[in-house]
Amino acid sequence: MEAYSAILSVAHEIKHAKRAVAFTGAGISAESGLATFRGRDGLWNKYDPAVASIESFAQDPRKFWQFAREIGWIFLAARPNDAHIALAELEEMKRLDCVITQNVDGLHQRAGSKHVIEIHGNAGRIICTRCASAYATEKIIDRLTKQEIPTCDRCGGTLKPDVILFGEPLPKKAFDQALKEVKSAGLLLAVGTSLEVYPAASLPEVAKKNGTKIISIDSEKTGWDDLCDYKVNGPAGEILPRIVQAIKISF
Ligand code: OAD
Repeated sequence: MEAYSAILSVAHEIKHAKRAVAFTGAGISAESGLATFRGRDGLWNKYDPAVASIESFAQDPRKFWQFAREIGWIFLAARPNDAHIALAELEEMKRLDCVITQNVDGLHQRAGSKHVIEIHGNAGRIICTRCASAYATEKIIDRLTKQEIPTCDRCGGTLKPDVILFGEPLPKKAFDQALKEVKSAGLLLAVGTSLEVYPAASLPEVAKKNGTKIISIDSEKTGWDDLCDYKVNGPAGEILPRIVQAIKISF
């Protein structure tokens, strides 16, 4: 659909939806300078995804931490972009109930979104794999950048970002909450996700089965476009503010 008419249709759908829920992936943070996983410049073109598996972390935490530092996975330099801000504004306008995110960068909360469900964890927390002590990433940034394998100052155990690695179960409470939100939504607004990783990718499928309308905003064609009622192609940081603007000026 041509972007302008798609934006007007999507604005209309959001404005009149019973409950709208957003579902975001790495693409929403691309304009904050964070690499996506797939696609031409995606991390998995440069690195073997196995480096982000729990097996690999257990065998060789040094390699994992080197990867985490190289890709800037401690995110302190990243800032929310206009797409994060637009979703926060939609919540403030009472047009969006929550944001379910696969991202671990914390940028939705920093943009002002209040109700955020993180199904892959948050890299702003670091946990000890032995005694479960938790640290704020920003408080121990020296240790994370200088120690090859950062360790817990309470028990000496190996530290790990509080994110879900491949092979780990999703946090049950967050995923159950996400399922509940999706099941009661009249509209699912997906932004910047290739939908290639399960069980997160099952959420739009659950929505579809429930008769929920699905809108996708993505800069590329994706393998799941057929599931969508509306697809708007373009950078989220441009498209989402235009949708918010269209809702504000429409009757
Ligand atoms: P992907 O990297 O798989 O997909 C990113 C999507 O964002 C693609 O469809 C891009 O076309 C789109 N995109 C890129 N830039 C964009 C922009 N400026 N505006 C709009 N769309 C844009 O990322 P995810 O779907 O989030 O899991 O990946 C899912 C999971 O795979 C991640 O949570 C991570 C990864 O392996 C774990 O680490 C467990």
